[in-house]
Amino acid sequence: MLYSDKVLEHFSNPRNVGELENPDGVGEVGNAKCGDIMKMYLKVEDGKISDVKFKTFGCGAAIATSSIATEMIKGKPIEDALKLTNSAVVDALDGLPASKIHCSVLAEQAIKAALSDYYTKQGVDPEPIVGKLEDTDHDHSSEE
Ligand code: FES
Repeated sequence: MLYSDKVLEHFSNPRNVGELENPDGVGEVGNAKCGDIMKMYLKVEDGKISDVKFKTFGCGAAIATSSIATEMIKGKPIEDALKLTNSAVVDALDGLPASKIHCSVLAEQAIKAALSDYYTKQGVDPEPIVGKLEDTDHDHSSEE
């Protein structure tokens, strides 16, 4: 089986799909190679991700990774969301095929992009906190 039950389950029944009105942060990332785009909306209250929604125009693995990533950060402190790595997302899905690892990178980067936007809106320079956003557009040939 190429995909784990968890991937298939999140793909067929994705959590937190949609948009948020008046979000505190929005991040959009894309992968030029496959053309997939992921958009994350965050609400932040008392330093916690009080709500999160996503829209993914992309492959099944991108939908599954964004779905589980939103579950992993919802209700959590911002610090935890910042620490969410693509490998944690892959582990939570019981693995992804090698050619689909870049989809999980999109999920990690979309959350970081949304947090960057959040800090920018607060008048805070996001780079020392969020770090430089990875260029998700470049060719991840080593991962494929
Ligand atoms: Fe590119 Fe999945 S194939 S995000």
